Amino acid sequence: MPRTDASRIGTRSGASSSERLRRLRTTPAIRELLAEVRTAPSRLVYPVFLRPSEGRPEAIPSLPGVLRYGTDTVGTLARDLLREGIPAVLLFGLPKRKELDGHEAWSSNSSVVHAIRTIRRAAPDLVIWTDLCLCSYTRHGHCGILRGSEIDNDATVDRLGRIAVAHARAGAHFVAPSAMMDHQVAGIRSALDGAGFETTGIVAYAAKFASSFYGPFRDAADSTPSFGDRRAYQMDPRNGREALRELALDAAEGADVLLIKPALPSLDVIARARVQFPHPIAAYQVSGEYAMIRAAAERGWLDERAAVIEATNAIHRAGADLVISYFARDLARWSREGR
Ligand code: PBG
Repeated sequence: MPRTDASRIGTRSGASSSERLRRLRTTPAIRELLAEVRTAPSRLVYPVFLRPSEGRPEAIPSLPGVLRYGTDTVGTLARDLLREGIPAVLLFGLPKRKELDGHEAWSSNSSVVHAIRTIRRAAPDLVIWTDLCLCSYTRHGHCGILRGSEIDNDATVDRLGRIAVAHARAGAHFVAPSAMMDHQVAGIRSALDGAGFETTGIVAYAAKFASSFYGPFRDAADSTPSFGDRRAYQMDPRNGREALRELALDAAEGADVLLIKPALPSLDVIARARVQFPHPIAAYQVSGEYAMIRAAAERGWLDERAAVIEATNAIHRAGADLVISYFARDLARWSREGR
């Protein structure tokens, strides 16, 4: 048998035998000291779903433990999140009525606009991100303006710009376009600048894959497409190099934060993005990633807390600065309780 380095590990002879990595793991205190990453509430963004009206929060069947808030009751949530140490929210609105062009999305009377105003009053220090998309607002459930059975890219970018301005005017700090239209970041940047909102930032859903893990979200946001699928605009999950081109385009167009999703199925993209871009990187641990752990934990097949912490740490370890997570409040509670 050839003597490989591996065959000497664990023996006292040879140079490599002095390297004993188990020294790094001897006690809980040493492990804690040497941990390369750790989850912290201050690195989390909490997604918030909004009803198109005031009123008490209601349950979302496909996302147990996640609520849909009224545009008034979201103020209490905002204060609670700050108290828990969670610095930011990502808002998703529902319209009163779905239209062919989804115009309620850019109305100054939308659920998101009302919620932004409520949050700014109730919890001025909470950072507000808003999702910019048309899928919850259109009757057909696609992320843009339809021309025949195709999504009209540039008409959609124009509408995304209008939504961005409506949200910025209400007081959003960042808008997060998720429609995966080409040049949406450039279009939104120029719409915001043209309206005097140079300081409103853009979190670009830069690499967003056409993922099966968005299933529970589509019930929550009532945004399942009525025909076809989103593969003509969201990315093919097989393509990592193309994801880097998407990231590069959004960076060149002025994205302030680069967002990658889903998170756990895209760790390679997160890791490569970390090396190639100096931007802050956010990863979205999406509804299906949440649902998988919740469902397995409910059946007793997984230890929920351990699984959530491990998944979130893996996303940080790959290189994400921030994680958008439905588990944010659980993670904050677990960190308060100590490990
Ligand atoms: C809107 C949007 C989606 C998600 C975030 N923004 C759904 C989709 O693209 O179908 C998914 C988030 C999640 O699954 O938690 N376009």
